Amino acid sequence: MHRLIVANWKMNPDTPSEARALVTATKLVAGNLRHTNVVICPPAVFLALLKPTRKIALGAQDISTELRGAYTGSISAPMMKYSGVTYAIIGHSERRALGETDEIINQKIKIALSQGLRVILCVGERARDEHGHYLKHLREQLEKAVYRLPRPMAKGLIIAYEPIWAIGVDAKQADTPAGFLEQSIFIRKVLSHWCGRTMALELPILYGGSVNPKNAVSFIKEGEANGLLVGHESLRADHWREIIKIVDHA
Ligand code: 13P
Repeated sequence: MHRLIVANWKMNPDTPSEARALVTATKLVAGNLRHTNVVICPPAVFLALLKPTRKIALGAQDISTELRGAYTGSISAPMMKYSGVTYAIIGHSERRALGETDEIINQKIKIALSQGLRVILCVGERARDEHGHYLKHLREQLEKAVYRLPRPMAKGLIIAYEPIWAIGVDAKQADTPAGFLEQSIFIRKVLSHWCGRTMALELPILYGGSVNPKNAVSFIKEGEANGLLVGHESLRADHWREIIKIVDHA
């Protein structure tokens, strides 16, 4: 399985020229990759400026629950597709914090997959308690996300495990590779009840949360992550390039 390294730019950078510069920097390394596919998820207004290449795919940071109509400010999955997008991040904790419910996420996954987009479903707990309640939360997020989705849809699904406490420049630390591995085993177990054991074992699971050039390799090697979802470090061209190279060589 190819590794997947995804940049979530969130609401950055400010200008189209900065966005173009980041893609140009990515192209410098992407051409030589052997085991890794790169996805860039820019703010939607920059999509038209950033053409996907054989090695760099484009992703949406979110999509609408609807296909068209009177939904001010929303962007549909077909519009994303026509803008060159092949992946969609759904259920990011920053969107959940704005009120996105599990039911909305379920609807978005259904729409995205039925339109042929690959879904990067984000799950993760706010805090890790010693009694293991966070596992119940994680289970619920997963079960509700795939509720009543046809099993074959699992083929288009990618899970990103992003513990909220590890996200952002202010986070104290990233998860540990061992911690991630434990969660990914749990995620596969929960999803196997939906899509069956074989498919659950094949689901790509990415780690996200304070990924940087220092910890990237350990998540791939010790954590057995199928890839990484990178936030603020994907906006620093030098660090971002290093992370991509490290993942490809790991
Ligand atoms: P950081 O890499 O900035 O912690 O963000 C992770 C993230 O939320 C990616 O979706």
